[in-house]
Amino acid sequence: MIKVMQSIEDIRKNLLAQVASSDNPSELLKAPELKQLYDKIKTLPTGGRSAYGRSVNELRKTLELAIVAREAELEDSTVEPIDITAPWDINTGHLNLLPTEYGTEHPLSREIENVVDIFTRMGFEAVESRQIDDDEHMFGTLNFPEDHPARDSYDTFHTEEDFISPAHTSTMQNRILKAGKTKLEAGGQIAAISYGRVFRNEDVDATHEHTFYQCEGVFVSSDATLGQMLGTLRSFFETYYEQKLKIKTQPSYFPFVEPGLEFVIEKPTVLGGNPLSSGGEWLEMLGCGMIHPNVLKAAGIDTEKYRGFAWGGGIDRLVMLKYGIEDLRHFESGKLQFLRKFV
Ligand code: PHE
Repeated sequence: MIKVMQSIEDIRKNLLAQVASSDNPSELLKAPELKQLYDKIKTLPTGGRSAYGRSVNELRKTLELAIVAREAELEDSTVEPIDITAPWDINTGHLNLLPTEYGTEHPLSREIENVVDIFTRMGFEAVESRQIDDDEHMFGTLNFPEDHPARDSYDTFHTEEDFISPAHTSTMQNRILKAGKTKLEAGGQIAAISYGRVFRNEDVDATHEHTFYQCEGVFVSSDATLGQMLGTLRSFFETYYEQKLKIKTQPSYFPFVEPGLEFVIEKPTVLGGNPLSSGGEWLEMLGCGMIHPNVLKAAGIDTEKYRGFAWGGGIDRLVMLKYGIEDLRHFESGKLQFLRKFV
């Protein structure tokens, strides 16, 4: 029996060596040595058959695997390498240029840059907002009492670990105030904007998205006034829309400002407004107001000495109005037909 096994081993080595150099390796499955090994099974005494049979089957499997590997090797070496960087079809050899297209910046990224640029030129520092935050920054430091119904208007997504995807960029206020405290106390001012992605648990339609963008502004000094805030916002909107605008404010409520206002502009003709309609069409652009003393205190700022204003609003809406985009969902859709309009 030992001798028989020895011969299987010899045949295995021999066949594998042949596979490695064969141009048609599958032929070796018909090798007479292999056939002889199978034929031999019948001649063995019953007791020795199964061990012998198993070894022959294993040999056949090894051989099959080696054949597949050799075939792949042969295939690789017969295919000419392709220069995938060649700007023409190398199969024809003709200078037949393949159509190509450059990607473009997403309209929202471009407009965010534009917004940031306007505020930076007005002296505001810009920081990107966080996309994951906690209850303290979303509500606690913004003067939302526990269980206050105002929390309901900021219904957003929570992780199992109790992190929050922020429903507004106001989550950055406390960080901006803390970071600017030293400069303020040294006689300077805090002037910063924060911009970024925010999230709300919304039923999505043409004017509501679960993911959108906001820009927040924070200004604190020893003598900040509402008048300065209105001037800042008017300047921003007139620069962004490149025209004079009629503005007004109307009362509103946000726990983190007092008084709280909505900043409203009259829709100008170039933005699709109708000058003949009586009183024009007013558009609410953002929420704003004087920063509530509790918000300043939460950042350790002395409310006897300093006061400030803050505003925050959607960037998507700003852009939709500028370009007459009728459906907010286009922005996140990835539709090329939409994106190509902004090339
Ligand atoms: N964070 C508010 C919102 O998204 C807007 C706001 C910001 C209001 C700052 C006042 C001051 O609804």
